[in-house]
Amino acid sequence: MRTETPPLIRLEEYRPSDYLIDRVDLDIRLDPHATRIDATLALYPNPAGEAGAPLNLDGDDLRLVSIALDGAPLAQDGYTVTPAGLSLIAPPRRPFTLRLVTEVDPTANTKLMGLYRSSGVYCTQCEADGFRRITYFLDRPDVMAVYTTRLEADRDQAPVLLGNGNLIEAGEAGAGRHFAVWHDPHPKPAYLFALVGGRLGKVETRFTTMEGRAITCAVYVEPGKEDRAGYALDAVIRSMAWDETAFGRPYDLDVFNVVAVSDFNMGAMENKGLNIFNDKYVLASPETATDGDYAAIEAIIAHEYFHNWSGNRVTCRDWFQLCLKEGLTVFRDQEFSSDMRSRPVHRIAEVRSLRARQFPEDAGPLRHPVRPRVYAEINNFYTATVYDKGAEIVRMLRTLIGPQAFRAGMDRYFADNDGRAATVEDFLAAFAAVTGGDLDAFARWYERPGTPRLTVSGAYEPGAARCTLRLAQSQPGAGGQDGPPLVIPVALGLVGASGPLTGVTCPALRDGVFVLDRPEAEIIFDGVAEEPVPSVLRDFSAPVRLELALTDAQRMRLLAHDSDPFNRWQAAQDVALRLILDPDADRTEAFAQALGRFLDAEALADPAFAALVLALPSEGEAADAVPSGVDPDAIHRARFALRAHLGTALRPRLERLDAALAPLDNVPYSPDASAAGRRSLRNAALDLIAAGDPETGARRAAERLGSASNMTDRLAALATLALIPGDARETALTEFAERYAGEPLVLDKWFAIQAQIPEPGTLERIVRLQGHPAFTMTNPNRVRALIGSFAFGNPTQFARADGAGFARVAETVAALDSTNPQVAARMLTAFGSWRRLENSRAAKALEILNWIKAIPGLSRDTADILARTRG
Ligand code: PHE
Ligand code: ZN
Repeated sequence: MRTETPPLIRLEEYRPSDYLIDRVDLDIRLDPHATRIDATLALYPNPAGEAGAPLNLDGDDLRLVSIALDGAPLAQDGYTVTPAGLSLIAPPRRPFTLRLVTEVDPTANTKLMGLYRSSGVYCTQCEADGFRRITYFLDRPDVMAVYTTRLEADRDQAPVLLGNGNLIEAGEAGAGRHFAVWHDPHPKPAYLFALVGGRLGKVETRFTTMEGRAITCAVYVEPGKEDRAGYALDAVIRSMAWDETAFGRPYDLDVFNVVAVSDFNMGAMENKGLNIFNDKYVLASPETATDGDYAAIEAIIAHEYFHNWSGNRVTCRDWFQLCLKEGLTVFRDQEFSSDMRSRPVHRIAEVRSLRARQFPEDAGPLRHPVRPRVYAEINNFYTATVYDKGAEIVRMLRTLIGPQAFRAGMDRYFADNDGRAATVEDFLAAFAAVTGGDLDAFARWYERPGTPRLTVSGAYEPGAARCTLRLAQSQPGAGGQDGPPLVIPVALGLVGASGPLTGVTCPALRDGVFVLDRPEAEIIFDGVAEEPVPSVLRDFSAPVRLELALTDAQRMRLLAHDSDPFNRWQAAQDVALRLILDPDADRTEAFAQALGRFLDAEALADPAFAALVLALPSEGEAADAVPSGVDPDAIHRARFALRAHLGTALRPRLERLDAALAPLDNVPYSPDASAAGRRSLRNAALDLIAAGDPETGARRAAERLGSASNMTDRLAALATLALIPGDARETALTEFAERYAGEPLVLDKWFAIQAQIPEPGTLERIVRLQGHPAFTMTNPNRVRALIGSFAFGNPTQFARADGAGFARVAETVAALDSTNPQVAARMLTAFGSWRRLENSRAAKALEILNWIKAIPGLSRDTADILARTRG
């Protein structure tokens, strides 16, 4: 049983470790139930620590077999063992070695932290604190050591044995067993340790670095699925090449291995030289993966690979600095994807995801600064705020100092901190050093929770040909913290009736960016010959909520004429959002006409962009824009009515687009961005046609399902059909499940689509699907597909007025908590916006949260989310 109120860990209480570790020698004998870990740690007192302090090693769920100090068994009174670790009461005041033999049961490890088995494959997950589930250790990122790992296993059970670093020896170990020795020359924290043992197939290729190092890159997958690993391997090579050209960062070992496993708590993990992935982000074939899956694989392969520098070579001093590696690495993978694909389209996707996940987090009870100051359970801080707002901060920094200085600052950061465990201050210091400037005010972004508001108003004086913009920043009441102003880069410009204005001067702008570092400011544009429309926060230059009162007509001017693609898209979103929150027939008609003109003029020139313009803001985004008392049913009705209206009004255009894009069916599938963009527009057209005319829509979608030659089109058709009640839908769902009965990752899509049907019958369906033979609570992907899609992707049914949706998710959290607390806690975060719901739903939510609270022995993960969510 754990404590009710877990102890809090505070940034201000950081102290260097009293001991450090030079080298770790591991001899690991893999066994399904009794894996032996023989660890020799070369320890020494840290001159920066307290002399003579006890040595407190972390441990969790370990069986200690033996312990020896400098080769001699340690007497019982020399150490103590508790469930949380092992302490040496009076360690030597000089370097010494500690040899620890522990035993663990990987098969019984359902938490998927430490050493576990996934479909029989031995694998590890050590971030943030899983290494202590393998051996007793100083399990903190500022303790960095050089590891040598000998792995031994039954050859039949585990013909493949992988570790960090380079393979230095391998051979027979007798009695059907074999071994492999891996050595990683780069000092690393324990959270980057990994091993893999199992029956795996592989694809591999070679890459030569800019330094001339020949590397073997391999992707390991379940045997028989090698033909689905090629795209991931290609993404590895492209990532390696890109990090060299974009950041001057070469790879630093002889091998780079990626292993796909089917049971994984997160997306993937950047273990040194041995990235371990959720197989969802590795395996892809046209028949089983969508364009979105290919894009996600490319991005996550890149993300983990880029961690080799931003995370591994330069790691974090403590977990408060998590954004130092995650925010920076997300920024890097976003840049990579933007270079591989369409930059504006990718930017829109980034912002949509930020608004869908991070804005609500920042406005609710789970809000925290990008660099938190306190935590109870670090696993609960792998959040959209740390990752995605963290990336936005890096992006703003680049905007503020410019790309050249940014690159110089990054070089400086890597040079100054290579092999170190660094802090956010170290990161900013590198940029301050190369620019000679001071980033103290900018650093407030790391400390200040809440999404700032940027209010802009404009005035035009025709006689003076002058336009004045007034900008003001504020922290929102709910959750915001007042304080000194933030430094907000605001990219902006003026747009005339038929495009950019010429002859305009504005000394306050540099490269089109105004830096708002005061509570408010005024900028003056001269030489403005006609009344302009301001285009503000171009390319979403800062993670703020923009308030700028424009008419629909002004917004439609931006859609038609702004030079900034992001704001063109944003303008259409803004009009649609207002129409969802405040429906109006005439304005809807005018909006449809503007969209029609836009589609005629450019849909086929940039189909991916056009598809985004046609995609209405989500129900979640609409809820986020309601000040309080959210009624998800009302939002849903209004949004669906708008869709239906647009579908009807745009019908002839949508038909023309569909016809123009139909030849796609005859070319072989390619996952590249332009082919994907054409598919997305065609599928968006079908979806809108169906919204306006469900009968035709159902028929077309059913046809498309039959004729589709790839998963993207098939799944899009199924998703369209899923919104139209009737036999056609049920038949299609049944056939899809039969066709993909042997494909867990495809069945996840099938679970997810059904979980998101916005109808009261969905709850019954969920109960039924939880009993489906392919569903299991032990696989995180299955749980996320069914329960996660319901909780996070079905606002009307999760927040049913009778509370039954909340109850279903709560029961899943309760059932999962004892076996996999990390995933249970993640599901519970779906309750994060409960206070914003209208009173009766909020009361139901609170009732259910109280029900969870009464469960005895909740994990620290779940108890922490619960305590913060209930408030
Ligand atoms: N560090 C991983 C990433 O973002 C995420 C992760 C965290 C994976 C914790 C597993 C456990 O790249
Ligand atoms: Zn990461």
